[in-house]
Order: sequence, then C-alpha cells, then structure tokens
Amino acid sequence: MDEQRQTEVEIEEVYSGDRNMLAVNELMPIHCVGEDDMEHIVDMTEQFSRTIDPILRMYNAAMCATTARLEIIEDEFKYRKLRCPIHHIDTRLKSAKSILGKLQKKDLDLTLSAACNNIYDIAGVRVVCSYIKDVYLIRDRLMAQDDLFLMDVKDYIAEPKENGYRSLHMVIRVPVYFMNKKQMVPVELQIRTLAMDLWASLEHDIKYKSLYQGVTADFSKELKECSRLIYQAEEKMEVMNRIIER
Ligand code: GTP
Ligand code: MG
Repeated sequence: MDEQRQTEVEIEEVYSGDRNMLAVNELMPIHCVGEDDMEHIVDMTEQFSRTIDPILRMYNAAMCATTARLEIIEDEFKYRKLRCPIHHIDTRLKSAKSILGKLQKKDLDLTLSAACNNIYDIAGVRVVCSYIKDVYLIRDRLMAQDDLFLMDVKDYIAEPKENGYRSLHMVIRVPVYFMNKKQMVPVELQIRTLAMDLWASLEHDIKYKSLYQGVTADFSKELKECSRLIYQAEEKMEVMNRIIER
C-alpha cells in the first residue's frame, strides 16, 4: 500500500456540518482484520497510528490552548496578589494504541471519524485546586469564555461515584486552527481539589497494582471509607479557609 496515501486525512471546515461533529475523513480507512493473529494486530495498530498522527497534533493543540487559558487565569490572580485558585495542571494526550483499544472495547468502527466523534478524552486536562470553591470558580471562568462550547458535564462532587470518587468532569470544545481550517476540538477537563486528587491517585495505584500483581483482596469498602475521611478533613480545612478569606 502506498505509504503517502495511508496517512492522508481530509479535515472539513467546522461550519460546513454539524457543530457537534468533528469533520474528519480518512481518504484511506483502516483495514479491519478478521483474524486475531499478532502480525495482523501489529500491522493494524501501526496503520492506525500513522493515520491518526495529524489528528493527534490537532488534539495536542486543543490541549495547549486550554492550558494557556488556565494559565491566563492563574496570571490574573498573581497580578491581583490573590491566592491562586489553581494548584497545578496536568495534561495527557491519549496514545493511538489506547484510542484503538477504546474503539474496540466500545465495538466502534476503527476509523478516525469514529474516534473523533465518540472518544472525548483524547485530550485530557486535569486542574487541581486547593479548595472546592476554586473548582467551581475555574468552571465559571471557562464557561464565561464565549468561544468555548460545553458538551458535557458530570459533577461527581455534588454526586460522588459509588466507590467514593469525586471530581468535576467537563467536555469542552476548543477552537483550533489546524491545516488552515477551524475545528472545535473536544477536551476532557477534570477539575478537582488536592484532597480529591490524593484519593483518586492512590485509588488508581492500588486498583492497578492489585490487578497486575494478581492480588484478590477487595479494598472497595476501605477505599470508600478513605474517601469519606479525606472529605471530612477537607471540609474542616474549607471552614478555616472561609474564616480567613471572608
Ligand atoms: P469513558 O468512556 O472512559 O470516558 O467513560 P466515562 O465518560 O463514563 O467516564 P468518566 O467521565 O466518569 O471518567 C473518566 C475519567 O475520570 C477516567 O479516565 C479517570 O481518569 C477518571 N475517573 C473516573 N472514575 C474514577 C475512579 O473511580 N477512580 C479514579 N481514580 N479515577 C476515575
Ligand atoms: Mg468520559
């Protein structure tokens, strides 16, 4: 197969179609293989990685644009000599392999269009704040920017997950000019406090270490209890902060 043709993608102007859809067409779609042998899987993964590469650059641009907006908010607080609502920002771009895995898991077509229009966490930005009120301040500041478009919001602070997970999730569409065309690229934002981040990071570590080391112990009750205790401590510190910042 012609190497050059394989990586070609066409990006249509965002306004030519549905605002919710990312108009990406591959000129040469991935060939889905029926067989399970390793050679085919490796070949398919390599093909997919090559095809998705320009698209990942567009998502990376959206991630950088989101981070820049957050840094501008940080700078405003520095300038005003106020406590900064943002403690730190983490970013991650999903790998081609992981996107392919998610498409397969969701039983979707192995195409760029399926990836762009069904997987909204290709670009991920995590904002870690000190206090709960900062989480909502960041949400409000972003929502006040009239060129950002809110696609989805899940408030796991107001309604924590059954396992104790707390965080505010949003999917926003960020304008990006890529290949001279404007696209509204989705970015998954997780906004949480340091306390929420502590629990989520350790829970993730414990869950995956248990899985890979074949540990059969079930820590779900303990993890939920830890979430409750961390929240209790956080609430006490929020009270102190309210007195100071009144
Ligand atoms: P996806 O298709 O994976 O996006 O599923 P979803 O949209 O139902 O997931 P959700 O938005 O609830 O969570 C997505 C991300 O939030 C995950 O990739 C994690 O980073 C984080 N997350 C959600 N639940 C948990 C949890 O129980 N523990 C930890 N540590 N992180 C979580
Ligand atoms: Mg999600």
